[in-house]
Amino acid sequence: AVTDAPAPVKEAKKPAMPDAQTVTEVKHYTDRLFSFRCTRPASMRFRSGEFVMIGLMAMNEKTGKEKPLLRAYSIASPSWDEELEFYSIKVPDGPLTSKLQHIKEGDEIILRPKPVGTLVHDALLPGKRIWFFATGTGFAPFASLLREPQTYEDYDEVIITHTCREVGELTYGRDLIEGLKSDELLNEVIGEGFWKKIKYYPTTTREESPKMGRITDLMRSGEAFADLGVPGIDKDNDRAMVCGNLAFNLEIKDMLEGYGLEEGANSDPKHYVVEKAFLD
Ligand code: A2P
Repeated sequence: AVTDAPAPVKEAKKPAMPDAQTVTEVKHYTDRLFSFRCTRPASMRFRSGEFVMIGLMAMNEKTGKEKPLLRAYSIASPSWDEELEFYSIKVPDGPLTSKLQHIKEGDEIILRPKPVGTLVHDALLPGKRIWFFATGTGFAPFASLLREPQTYEDYDEVIITHTCREVGELTYGRDLIEGLKSDELLNEVIGEGFWKKIKYYPTTTREESPKMGRITDLMRSGEAFADLGVPGIDKDNDRAMVCGNLAFNLEIKDMLEGYGLEEGANSDPKHYVVEKAFLD
């Protein structure tokens, strides 16, 4: 029978958040820093040290519609971990981090599963000693690389320097390095005591701590090399990865070039690589 009744209106289904992953843990370190873990897409492969785009749905003021608000974040967990970890700054008026800092276990975030980046072992030629130079949240890719067996297979010595404004900002890195001693996989794969290859050199610039000053200044004066018991940096023995704020990256890049090291890339491995730490 033909009727005039209007066809029932189908309720518009709210699109599910694209590339959603579930938050499994959140830890706050200071009023400026936190870390979180989330589920990992089953098919996602990455090399320790790479970054991905992550974020949340946010209202676009112009269109009034929700759309993904994404930023590049280094993956802080190693490639073998079944979950993903991220280490983030909290910027009160930062478009993403002002919201992201409030996530809780069980919440969903967006994660585009396309890892890229230059802080990877493939971008460096073989060497004796690897330097990881970080400021602030630039520690994140090294949190991944320090838990990566290849780091200890490829090098006799691993030096991680971390310069922060305040002592509390060192906690994430310090806890991570302390945790390596009891890391079952690394102890099994690399051998007990592998962590003795690591030299950790934390410094602060705006709060009293056992070692004060920017790592760049401490290297220029020779103090850092004396403290670490190494002769200096040269292209035959030393390899470096750099991740920090822009001014730091440029300054250390200049210093490394001065020591005779050349910048490498995935397609052209050399002596050092650089990546900018995420700042909202
Ligand atoms: P400083 O306090 O002297 O500026 P931020 O939190 O601003 O990203 O800085 C993180 C750390 O990096 C701070 O300790 C800061 O020192 C340091 N830093 C900033 N610029 C440079 C640079 N050009 N070389 C070395 N360290 C730097």
